[in-house]
Amino acid sequence: MENFIFHNPTKLIFGKGTIPQIGSEIAKQGYRKVLLLYGQGSIKRNGVYERVISSLKENDLQCVELSGVKPNPLLSKVKEGIELSSKEKVEAILAVGGGSVIDSAKAIAVGFYYSGDIWDIFLGKHSPEKALPIFTVLTMSATGSEMNCGAVVTKDETLEKYSFVSEHVYPRVSIVDPSVQFTLPAEQTVYGAIDTIAHVLEYYFDGSDSEIQNELSEGIIRAVISTTERLLQNPKDYEARSNMAWSATVALNGLTGAGRRGGDWSCHRIEHALSALYDIAHGAGLAIVMPAWMKYVYTSKPAQFERFAHKVFGIIEKGEEGIIKGIAIFKEWMKQVGAPVSLEDIGVEEKDIPKIVDNVMALGEPFGNLRMLYRKDVEAILKIASL
Ligand code: NZQ
Ligand code: ZN
Repeated sequence: MENFIFHNPTKLIFGKGTIPQIGSEIAKQGYRKVLLLYGQGSIKRNGVYERVISSLKENDLQCVELSGVKPNPLLSKVKEGIELSSKEKVEAILAVGGGSVIDSAKAIAVGFYYSGDIWDIFLGKHSPEKALPIFTVLTMSATGSEMNCGAVVTKDETLEKYSFVSEHVYPRVSIVDPSVQFTLPAEQTVYGAIDTIAHVLEYYFDGSDSEIQNELSEGIIRAVISTTERLLQNPKDYEARSNMAWSATVALNGLTGAGRRGGDWSCHRIEHALSALYDIAHGAGLAIVMPAWMKYVYTSKPAQFERFAHKVFGIIEKGEEGIIKGIAIFKEWMKQVGAPVSLEDIGVEEKDIPKIVDNVMALGEPFGNLRMLYRKDVEAILKIASL
């Protein structure tokens, strides 16, 4: 195992009926005026908005609202949030939604204290020293953003989808009530599940070895697979929703990465180009990229890929045969639950690959961990992903 520090400062309040606690959690920390940030209206349709507003009122909190955060959130909305927060002199941000809303809140939180161009932070030209405190009410489990310190945003003009991490943007308090996810469209449930699996696999396949981390990772993936199937049968299955929600949180809150080598993150890097260019869901893009990446790099640590096939899908064949079978079954499972699994499935043709590669490579090369990837490797992976 590699040395590690595990420190996660987010207080997570989990369970049915917990949303009314948000107001007192904010008030307890001494804040009186918040920016209430949300997406394109799902919270108004499923009753989450009213619950949040009445909790804020009960605790005499003032709020300024900003809505309209889109999936694959845009920098222009972040800038709007920074301006509004400064003008209204808010003291904290309350993000109510999925990863896109929470990530936008994180960017607004650091942008509030930075006089330069907020994009500098995504380019690594400026390291934030301060952020507005962030509180969240999660409505979709996928990214783990409710309990981590990362954010991903797309710059409107260039379609660059970049991230930043800063210890200052861990949410202070996050409320996860899995029952509010009963209203998620089936495909979003599936994309959330695939994103969760991807986060586990980015660490699992980073070249490191650790029995506890391997077992933990395989357990999470098996739980996600079975709960996805249950939720497709019955979206209101609370036990399945809550198991899915907790899986998504622990997949990217530092737990599965402890003792590893920092993760590989190639699939995420390649996927971010796909969702930036074609505005597809992040989980959908991952379903396309992951099996192709696995096929391309498994020779770098075949034992781990063989183990994955065996422990997750019960494959008994050894060596290359088992590995290839494992990757094929993983891809087939994602297809069966409704995800696109090739570029063709989202209408992207082989002639479009160079444009995607350009977008992936804009941040420089090489990248990856298990296998360092150069332009030619990304091209080859996308070719495998095309069918
Ligand atoms: O906009 P609204 O109306 O809220 O609708 C959303 C949106 O259309 C809807 N939704 C959310 N909760 C709902 C609901 N619909 C009905 N009932 C509910 N309870 O779901 C749609 C997708 O929401 P979004 O927030 O975009 O999804 P997700 O949580 O998957 O976030 C994806 C974004 O996070 C980034 C992705 O790249 C993508 O931009 N990521 C963030 C990470 C992080 N911060 O750590 C890591 C990830 O790897 C990822 O890159
Ligand atoms: Zn992800």
